[in-house]
Amino acid sequence: MTNIAIFASGSGSNAENIADYFSENSDIRICLIVSNKADAFVHERAKKLGIPSLTYPKSEFEEGTRVLEILREYGINFIVLAGFLLKIPGSLIEAYPRKIVNIHPALLPKYGGKGMYGEHVHKAVVAAGEKESGITIHYVNEHYDEGQVIFQAKCDVSPTDTPENVAQKVHELEYRHFPEAIEKTILSAQK
Ligand code: GRF
Repeated sequence: MTNIAIFASGSGSNAENIADYFSENSDIRICLIVSNKADAFVHERAKKLGIPSLTYPKSEFEEGTRVLEILREYGINFIVLAGFLLKIPGSLIEAYPRKIVNIHPALLPKYGGKGMYGEHVHKAVVAAGEKESGITIHYVNEHYDEGQVIFQAKCDVSPTDTPENVAQKVHELEYRHFPEAIEKTILSAQK
């Protein structure tokens, strides 16, 4: 049995999409949603989905011990970052080797790193006149957006596209590919 915790800092549309994808799966389940923001809309989504959700402040994440304890209490053995804006502490990386994945709304290694999230990414892509963008799903290590790439998908960026247009195209790729990439990563680790 794989018990997933999803970490999210904001709206949680990816978290909900992932929970829906696994809702009928008897081997992989979403057991917990964790945020660093008490007012994040992801808590509302968790309530609707019947998934427990907890909030830990930045300081708790940076230290890591309390978060690690709660993950163990919930029997978590896989972590998905879906719009989580804090760096994962080394203690969590060590406790979950190749068991933490993240999705980044661009084609890493470009447009990644500290401060590159949400609309900041899409604005930079448009400003650079890129002809394409997309998503990168990767293992998480102690550096922002630098872990081994698991999966990438691309979308075209036209000269008339606004950052909002790009965000919409990227979100569509996220919803289409993230759950399946998570499932394949979990299943391939079991072989
Ligand atoms: C997504 O664009 C994801 O790629 C990035 O943060 C955003 C989260 O959106 N890491 P949501 O909270 O899942 O709606």
